[in-house]
Amino acid sequence: MRKKVTVIGAGNVGATCAQELARRDYADVVLVDIIPNFPQGKALDMNQAGAVLGYEPTVVGANDYDATDGSDVIVITAGKPRSPGMSRDDLVTTNEAIVASVTKEAVRRSREAVIVVVSNPLDAMCHVAKAVSRFPRNRVVGMAGILDTARFAAFISQELDVSVKDVTAMVLGGHGDQMVPVVSATTVGGVPLSELLSRSRIAKLVERTKFGGGEIVNLLGTSAWYAPGAAAAQMVDAICLDEKRVLPCTAYLEGEYGITGLYMGVPVKLGAGGVEEVVRLKLTPEEKKMLRASAAAVREVVSILKRS
Ligand code: APR
Repeated sequence: MRKKVTVIGAGNVGATCAQELARRDYADVVLVDIIPNFPQGKALDMNQAGAVLGYEPTVVGANDYDATDGSDVIVITAGKPRSPGMSRDDLVTTNEAIVASVTKEAVRRSREAVIVVVSNPLDAMCHVAKAVSRFPRNRVVGMAGILDTARFAAFISQELDVSVKDVTAMVLGGHGDQMVPVVSATTVGGVPLSELLSRSRIAKLVERTKFGGGEIVNLLGTSAWYAPGAAAAQMVDAICLDEKRVLPCTAYLEGEYGITGLYMGVPVKLGAGGVEEVVRLKLTPEEKKMLRASAAAVREVVSILKRS
């Protein structure tokens, strides 16, 4: 039987994610947005693309949640994106109300779903989705680490002039300027990055990664969508196809990495049960320190929430 995936928010990120999933052709996709006619129009366009690209026209667009009944995965991208000069945290109050309301509507009809949160500020919005859904921690997970890692990997690939396919990188921590690119776990074709580039070159790539989202906001006037949409779709794949991928995702920690009661980016095993395991990575003392600083920054944003 085909899987069912609901994507809430038919804007840049939501539509990209939906289109990526439609192309995979293993799931019926329901695209929900508050703007009348908007998700219906996008669904129609995606279905017609299926006739060219070779996937079934099963995307449905809706302004209410009836069609989302019994979804396996709910992807939440509803909310405001950043504009130049804004940090992700500046979105907290606006997006908290939006994420809370869409979570409530969606989980009422899909009690067993896994929720993948994409709306920013990501770590805080995961707290909102968990609090409102009352789902166990394994079924509320955030998309950030795959995107931040993809940015780091792309920069490394360009710097070294090697295929990005041979770069294995890892970015942990909160999805903010205090994220933690884990250089000790980053390799190219199995060779540690530290053997291929000087400390100062690595530091430059790390810095560009940390502000990678902002770099795009400054160019486009709004936040990125191709890489975020693709990253969210990769998480949906891992869940729907029970791939048990080890991917950097935002998971609720209960003591892992010395952090309790907080969503943070860590490597997890992602499968049909959602977060099936938090994978423990050996960090250097410096990386541990950075992770603690990142946790403190996330806690500050979470403390602003009405619901957490
Ligand atoms: N219910 C459903 N959809 C909503 C609601 C709501 N209550 N409120 C807003 N939306 C929709 C908007 O109508 C819009 O179509 O969410 C969509 C968001 O799309 P964009 O404005 O294009 O934003 P996008 O770039 O997709 O980013 C969405 O993901 O990466 C994060 O920071 C980003 O928080 C932002 C989110």
